[in-house]
Amino acid sequence: MKRPVAYIAGTGRAVPSNVMSNFDFAAIGIETTDEWIVERTGIKQRHIAKTESVTDLASTASRAAMQKAGVQPGELDIIVVATASPDRLLPSAAVDLQAAIGASRAAAFDVGAACSGFIYGSTVAEAMISIGNADTALIVGVERLSSITDWTDRSTCVLFGDGAGAAVLKRAKQHRGILSTFVRSDGSLGDLLCRPGGGGARPFSSEVLNDRSQFIKMNGREVFKNAVRSMSDAATRALDAAKLTSADIDLMIPHQANIRIIEATAKHANIPMSKVYVNVDRFGNTSAASIPIALDEAIEQGQLGEGSTVLLVAFGAGFTWGSMIVRL
Ligand code: ACO
Repeated sequence: MKRPVAYIAGTGRAVPSNVMSNFDFAAIGIETTDEWIVERTGIKQRHIAKTESVTDLASTASRAAMQKAGVQPGELDIIVVATASPDRLLPSAAVDLQAAIGASRAAAFDVGAACSGFIYGSTVAEAMISIGNADTALIVGVERLSSITDWTDRSTCVLFGDGAGAAVLKRAKQHRGILSTFVRSDGSLGDLLCRPGGGGARPFSSEVLNDRSQFIKMNGREVFKNAVRSMSDAATRALDAAKLTSADIDLMIPHQANIRIIEATAKHANIPMSKVYVNVDRFGNTSAASIPIALDEAIEQGQLGEGSTVLLVAFGAGFTWGSMIVRL
């Protein structure tokens, strides 16, 4: 096993105060039932931002992670933000976060990998630490998906939630830290989950707004099949790269999109559900934020502690997927 280059020194999270339950969809004219949503997805409620911006959520999660890591904002060398729903399209969400927390020394940039963004961001940060460009990095997965969700489309609007999760990575001194990472993508499947309007190809216009193509469009069945296949493969790849087996894993934290995707991935990876962290019932799918939120909760609840080995596995639009094994 390789000696880790970087370790997770602290984690944090933030979610909006407003909670929307499955029963609240009736009030906005969506024909659905709690039974349908729970049976197909496992989701019972989600946090939906009313006042909190992406920068607000990211700042709160980041400050919590820095406090636990004993790191001051001025010590950060890099800030990597993973998001598909930034407050504004230019400049990056990372520089807005940098300004909000006062991390004046850092190089700040976003990664675009949708729900796999936390794994991609951590992989890039680990590489920058490895080549000597950084000693201390802040990785944040943050989304306000409610602002890019079509609230008239019942096949997508029941799935998503808002929130942020953050981790501080520091140069490893001992045998704890990131043991392996694996990232892959397949851009030929990009149309299956995308926001067709509002970019350079179809700039905002009355036509874009009329056909609601500024919002997330998804082929749910295809996403489902690909998610199970790719997350199962990613779990095995990270284990092989770290020369570990599923028996060595104390907890698996999969991207929280859907309980059926999580259960199928765990089965393929040969990890019992008793060792799989699930919070999709409380938060829905928070995309890039889902893994760091779950990681922070699992540490806070004592399900993970120093010396624990955790397998993180993600899948998202792109398609992108990836995995990471960390000894805490
Ligand atoms: N309430 C009630 N009925 C609904 C709803 C709803 N919210 N949404 C769709 N339906 C109806 C459809 O209209 C359809 O009705 P019809 O048969 O009369 O046409 C019926 O339910 C079946 O629709 P399907 O889309 O085929 O349902 P499916 O069993 O595929 O479940 C779901 C849909 C839950 C979206 C599933 O495909 C899924 O979980 N896919 C994964 C998607 C995902 O997690 N995406 C997140 C982003 S990517 C990521 O993070 C990994």
